[in-house]
Amino acid sequence: MPSLAVAEASNAAFCPSYIPVAVVVGGTSGVGQAMAEALARQTNGRAHIIIVGRNATAAAEILATFPKPTDSDADGWAHEFVQCDALSMASVRAVCASLLSRLKRINFLVITAGGPAGNSLLDCYETPEGLNAHLAMRYFMRYLFTKELLPLLVSAKEMGQHAHVMTVLGAGFGLALRTTDLGLHEAHRNSIKFLQGVFPNIAAIKGIATGVCYNDGLVAHFAAQHPDLAFTHISPGQVLTAGGSEVYLGWLLTPLTWLLNIFKRAISLTQNERAKYMLYALFDADRGLFIRGDHGDIVSAHVFSRDHKPQFDVSSPTAHKKGFLNGVPMKGYGGSDASVAGLIAYTEQVLAAILR
Ligand SMILES: NC(=O)c1ccc[n+]([C@@H]2O[C@H](COP(=O)([O-])OP(=O)(O)OC[C@H]3O[C@@H](n4cnc5c(N)ncnc54)[C@H](OP(=O)(O)O)[C@@H]3O)[C@@H](O)[C@H]2O)c1
Repeated sequence: MPSLAVAEASNAAFCPSYIPVAVVVGGTSGVGQAMAEALARQTNGRAHIIIVGRNATAAAEILATFPKPTDSDADGWAHEFVQCDALSMASVRAVCASLLSRLKRINFLVITAGGPAGNSLLDCYETPEGLNAHLAMRYFMRYLFTKELLPLLVSAKEMGQHAHVMTVLGAGFGLALRTTDLGLHEAHRNSIKFLQGVFPNIAAIKGIATGVCYNDGLVAHFAAQHPDLAFTHISPGQVLTAGGSEVYLGWLLTPLTWLLNIFKRAISLTQNERAKYMLYALFDADRGLFIRGDHGDIVSAHVFSRDHKPQFDVSSPTAHKKGFLNGVPMKGYGGSDASVAGLIAYTEQVLAAILR
C-alpha cells in the first residue's frame, strides 16, 4: 500500500508531453472535485478538464480556482463545466454525443458521482426510465458514459497517450454479482412502503450493494473488449464529503446512526487527502483491469492478451466460479465470466429499451 509520501511523489512526477484531457463525472463536489482540483494544480492548469454534474454555481466556483497557464505551449488547455442529470440515461447519452462531436480524445474518464440523495438507505424509487435510482447512478450511467466515450479513449491510446477509465465506488469487497432480479424490480415490489423514509429500505440497500459488484463487471467487460486501455474500479474508503459524510438510518434507529457516524468520522480522510491516492492510481496504470483499495493499492489486476476475444468463454471450467476472471483468480473481485456476460447482456437490453 503506497504511503501518502509515495502517492504525492508519484503525482508530482506526472508531467505529460501533451495536454491531458480529463472528464470528471461528479467533479462539482466530493472526491471528484478534489481530483479535478489536484489535476489542475499538478498540471499548473495545462489540461483540458471537463467537470460534469448538475450544479453550475458550484462548478463555476471550482473552475475559477484552477491555475490558468499563460505560456504558448499550453495551447489547447480549457476548464469547463458540462451540465448533466446522470440519473437520466437519455441525458447521459446526449452529453456523450456532444463530447464526441467536439473532442478528439479523452485521456482520463473519472466517474465519482454518487447519489441519489446522499446514497440514502431509507428510500429508493424507480426513475422515470424504470431504473432503481441507486443502480442508475452507481452502475447504469457509469456503463453508458464508458461505452459512449470509449472511441475518444481509444484515440488517445492510438496517439501513444494515457487512456484510463476509473470508476470510484466500492472496489475490493468481492460481493457476488447477482444472477437473478438484475434490475431489482422484485426488490422494489417487496419493499415495505409504509416504512419508506423512516427505516432502511430493501430496494435501497440492494441498489447500493449491487451497484458495487456491477462495477466489477463493468471494468471486466470493457477491459476484455479493449485490452490496450486501462479500467479501474477503486474504493475511496471513508471520506468527509458533502454527499458521503453522514449515514442516516431513520429516526427509529437514531442511536445506531449516532454510533455509525462517530465511527465514520474517526476513520474518514478529507476529500483532498483521498484525492491524492485516487490520482496516484489514475496515473499508475497502462493497460488492463485494476481493482484498487482506498490508498490506490492494487487488490488485484488482470491484463488481457491483445488477441483476447471480446466475449468471455462461458463454457470454460471456471466460467461460473465467483472471483475468477478469464480463468484467473482475482482477489476482491465479485464476478464470474458467466455472471459478467449475463449482466452485460441485461444492461444492453435495458439501455436499448430506454434509448430507442
Ligand atoms: N464519501 C464516502 O465516504 C464514500 C464511501 C464509500 C464510497 N463512496 C463512493 O465514492 C464516490 C465518490 O464519493 P463522494 O462522497 O465524493 O460522492 P458524492 O458526494 O455523492 O458525489 C457528489 C457528486 O455527484 C454529483 N451528482 C450527484 N447526483 C448527480 C446527478 N443526478 N447527476 C449528475 N451528477 C450528480 C454531484 O454533482 P451535482 O451536485 O452538481 O449534481 C457531485 O459532483 C461515490 O460513488 C460514493 O458512493 C464514498
